[in-house]
Amino acid sequence: MSRTLVICKPDAVERGLVGEILGRFERRGLRLVAGELREIDEALASRHYAEHVGRPYYGDLVKFITRSPSLVVVLEGPAETWRVVRQMMGATDPTQAPPGTIRGDLGLETQENLVHGSDSSESAVREIALFFPDLAGSAGT
Ligand code: PPS
Repeated sequence: MSRTLVICKPDAVERGLVGEILGRFERRGLRLVAGELREIDEALASRHYAEHVGRPYYGDLVKFITRSPSLVVVLEGPAETWRVVRQMMGATDPTQAPPGTIRGDLGLETQENLVHGSDSSESAVREIALFFPDLAGSAGT
């Protein structure tokens, strides 16, 4: 088993799409093991997105993720659950995401792309520890 971090971003909460998004993961067979509706502040955003500091979109990304509450969850499934989640999310730019993916069905703009998912086993471990310190060390691969 392995765990990964998913954030239903501010646009997903604002548009009332959290149930739709989490439902897709649940119907696929992934299990919800933790969840919290929270305002991500600048300090937490800068730790979460540390690897993107200096990218042209960084300022907009931090402004967006701190705009209003996000639903932050941990999902559990088989080995490399992070990869299953990323496939279900679709490409960063929703116009490039195929139908059947979350972004391909529900999004149109790169910034407002609804959902974040850890992009590797290492990222899952780091991000779960950042948002849910009580679960640190539980991510698996
Ligand atoms: S990379 O280079 O592959 O790591 O980048 P990518 O995974 O595509 O994007 C990293 C995060 O930055 C967000 N992003 C943007 N936000 C706003 N504007 C623009 N142009 C933009 N480009 C990328 C993207 O949604 C990713 O956020 P998360 O939360 O990780 O999905």
